[in-house]
Amino acid sequence: MANDVPDREPFSEKLRIPEALTFDDVLLRPMESRVEPDDADVSTRVSTNVELNLPVLSAAMDTVTESDMAIGMARQGGLGVLHRNMTVEEMTEEIERVKRADELVIQRDDVVTASPEQTVRAVDEMMEREGVSGAPVVAEDDTVLGIISGTDIRPYLEVGERDEVREAMTDKVITAGQDVTARRALELMYEHKIERVPIVDEEDRLVGLVTMQGILQRREHEDAARDEAGRLRVGVAVGPFEDDRATAADEAGADVLFIDCAHAHNRNVIDSAREITELVEADVVVGNVGTREAAEAVVDFADGVKVGIGPGSICTTRVVTGAGMPQITAVAEVADVASSRDVPVIADGGIRYSGDAIKAIAAGADAVMLGSYFAGTDEAPGRVITMNGKKYKQYRGMGSVGAMRSGGGDRYLKDADDDEEFVPEGVEAATPYKGTLASELHQLVGGMKSGMGYVGAETIPAFKERARFVRVSAAGQTEGHPHDVMITDEAPNYSPQG
Ligand code: XMP
Repeated sequence: MANDVPDREPFSEKLRIPEALTFDDVLLRPMESRVEPDDADVSTRVSTNVELNLPVLSAAMDTVTESDMAIGMARQGGLGVLHRNMTVEEMTEEIERVKRADELVIQRDDVVTASPEQTVRAVDEMMEREGVSGAPVVAEDDTVLGIISGTDIRPYLEVGERDEVREAMTDKVITAGQDVTARRALELMYEHKIERVPIVDEEDRLVGLVTMQGILQRREHEDAARDEAGRLRVGVAVGPFEDDRATAADEAGADVLFIDCAHAHNRNVIDSAREITELVEADVVVGNVGTREAAEAVVDFADGVKVGIGPGSICTTRVVTGAGMPQITAVAEVADVASSRDVPVIADGGIRYSGDAIKAIAAGADAVMLGSYFAGTDEAPGRVITMNGKKYKQYRGMGSVGAMRSGGGDRYLKDADDDEEFVPEGVEAATPYKGTLASELHQLVGGMKSGMGYVGAETIPAFKERARFVRVSAAGQTEGHPHDVMITDEAPNYSPQG
């Protein structure tokens, strides 16, 4: 005999389903415009206190972002987010590498110095080994006694290579204090026809060095993302329960910490992420989320919210778990909540073309994060491999077996003693080799700026307000790609598979 059960909502009610859309479902509606793409200003905020000149981040993945990528991204005005498939010590070194890359003042520990008793030959060899063309000469207590360069050394190599450095060095050294600006350092260099200025404390002890080469390098990257001290900015992924990694990253100078979790709408994750925000000075972006409710649970303490549940090119989350949110709807839902609290939104994953990136901004994102788009560049970790005459680089999901086996953090379910027991949510793949990051970014951002031109908005905030979508049918989709032709010359910003 059947038991009586309390009244409940009919299961069939669940089939009254809201629609969720992604990139290919929508297009930007063209609108009246006076904006030329070149005039579009793509500067934005990635978190409450961090501004960027490009609204673009490279993904925290072990085949995408280590220090080379982070340096390249920041020099172009975007942000690289270091992955966390490395020890805390390795992470600290990587952060320091980025921070040192374009520093105006090279810090004391990194300055190659000579001692007055060394022979000219020994100093010449040392400078060659270290890749520098000059060195301050310091006493044992670090007092600056002189400076020696290739020009001083050259005559001695002919006749007196065993002579001491004190004979050959220039002892009228031009130094500057710790508060020197790039402008003042350059003035000193022009005035005295020198290429390096030792930085000293009140007792004339060496604390750093400014070089002409360093200043010129900084000038090449006018739009670079820099912190208050003029160093390149860097983001770092930390697990939601990794307090130690978070505090170490903060102390090493990371600008933004990204709580790196596949499903941040989890009470334990949220409680722990909130605690991390209290431990560190850096901004903390929380992710990933994909719904309005998740956004509501994090906006009161997060400095930014990252959106993406399963849109990534190497993700299998949606097929493995049956859960996910098409990315345009996910971004719009989260942005509804976050923008009303002035918290920036980052759209993470699924971006194949520049058009996808600008659609994500139209849906409410302030910046976009990409993995596959950058994985084939020179700056991504890993070497170029050749298969059937074509060049590729490895690209794998952080929830793939390979990534989980080599550390993999705890982003995905990974309690396993051997590979068979992993429940992966990503795949390992190869992506076409693409050359330099700068040229990829040029195409990506160029396309985004053209999108702003079609909508008639000169800035990212204005674009977010003004842009409107139209819904695209399957036929409209086909019409949007090259059709009825055979492509003979590949375009730098289009390939049929993205
Ligand atoms: P794209 O499409 O740019 O996506 O290659 C990069 C983003 O994908 C996420 N990611 C994963 N998602 N399983 C997933 O479901 C994975 O193994 C995985 N690995 C990375 C991540 O958010 C990244 O930024």
